[in-house]
Amino acid sequence: MRITKAAYVSSSVSTAGKALPALREFAFIGRSNVGKSSLINCLTGNASLAHTSSTPGKTQCINHFIINDSWYIVDLPGYGYAKLSKERREKLAGMINDYIDHSASLVVLFVLLDSRHDLLKIDLDFLVSLGERGVPFAILLTKSDKLGTNALAARMEKVKAEIGEYWEPLPPILATSSKSGYGKEAVLDYIESVLRNLDEMDNKQ
Ligand code: GTP
Ligand code: MG
Repeated sequence: MRITKAAYVSSSVSTAGKALPALREFAFIGRSNVGKSSLINCLTGNASLAHTSSTPGKTQCINHFIINDSWYIVDLPGYGYAKLSKERREKLAGMINDYIDHSASLVVLFVLLDSRHDLLKIDLDFLVSLGERGVPFAILLTKSDKLGTNALAARMEKVKAEIGEYWEPLPPILATSSKSGYGKEAVLDYIESVLRNLDEMDNKQ
């Protein structure tokens, strides 16, 4: 898959009343500062498409970007940023859950985990809640440039073992780096294969 066109479409705080053309959506979620917006910029080859920041809590809305005029990437706010007020945190969690529960066009939710850190309870709880709600997801390990090759391979095995305790078969798990571009092709190929399968299913109907 090559992304030849990527454009900002809209920012919203709820799915209600959102009047966008219904195209398939691939959304990016994960703890605040895990690298969601940076990865979107890496995948699209546009460093200024999604707003990024070294300060957690940058993305505060549901942002839609249209890709190749045919599907959306959705940048979601992060969850679990401790420094936000409880009220603000609950508001963002409500926004995220509203999107996940009501977006009929969501095809895959990419859940981003920092490749340097062990799976935290907040991530595991979130993944379990996706399983309970039947939301299809794939896991992307981010910032893999911060680990050496061996350390990254070890992390990958550990995450697979941890996730494997809850999911059989394992969801797709890919390592990425927005800084080096590592994993970019694998993520785009995965998106392409999902879109192709959906097209084939549509054509059979
Ligand atoms: P929120 O919108 O606040 O939830 O954060 P986010 O998940 O969108 O993270 P963002 O993309 O804004 O990146 C957070 C910080 O991590 C920034 O300082 C980025 O430069 C840095 N970062 C993101 N991806 C990578 C990566 O692959 N490698 C390295 N080294 N740094 C990264
Ligand atoms: Mg962001």
